[in-house]
Amino acid sequence: MARIPFVCGNWKMHKTAAEAVALVNELRDGVGEAAGRVQVAVAPPFTALHAVKQAIGGTRIELAAQDVHWEAQGAFTGEISAAMLADAGCTHGIVGHSERRQLFGETDETVRKKVGALLGAGIRPIVCVGETLGEREANRTLEVVERQVRGGLAGLSAEVLAGITVAYEPVWAIGTGKTATSAQAQEVHAAIRKLLRELGGSVADQIRIQYGGSVKPENARELMSQPDVDGALVGGASLKAKDFIAIVKGAL
Ligand code: G3H
Repeated sequence: MARIPFVCGNWKMHKTAAEAVALVNELRDGVGEAAGRVQVAVAPPFTALHAVKQAIGGTRIELAAQDVHWEAQGAFTGEISAAMLADAGCTHGIVGHSERRQLFGETDETVRKKVGALLGAGIRPIVCVGETLGEREANRTLEVVERQVRGGLAGLSAEVLAGITVAYEPVWAIGTGKTATSAQAQEVHAAIRKLLRELGGSVADQIRIQYGGSVKPENARELMSQPDVDGALVGGASLKAKDFIAIVKGAL
């Protein structure tokens, strides 16, 4: 079935509020041209969420958070709850990014708790999965990705699964300039789709599976033309309006 492609820019730890607003203002027209045919979101740092929410008013650009804490409130210094993100205007939330897994102790269990917190606040999770270079070289890609998908989505009903996005991001391709070939991406995306069918039956055909890892204007169209690649989670190239707009258009 036809799925509307979904392209999200993950700005990581870049952009002050003023810089973020300037970038959104540059994105307006280019993204507007793709409106309705591609879903587009940006994930600024927490400190710029409010300013970006104001700046995207009147556009089709949606707001995503880069992370969330699973507890509703309490003594968790430095953390942000799902309700706070909803209050800031977020409609999507990234969880399980490999940088969180590798640098900040994220596990499949905490990913699952974060997914639950986001859903409870009416925010749609983007659940990131992906293997390291060592795991790929050891032929463990599908095993690792399957464990991460099962762990992150454990116990969710088919109805709930329908609103989730999975982002396949091979760790060795993130920020390295090395992109998975479209065949490598399709192989893993197809395996994820098969697993989603096992978990949620026919809703698997509605779930968007984004590819992430050095997506650029030059490779975006080829990657997103694969049957099970339904968009992109874009890091570095989402910081330049011209490149991000070209990637969004590559999904058309
Ligand atoms: O969330 C985005 C990914 O980590 C990809 O980052 O496009 O800079 O490789 P990148």
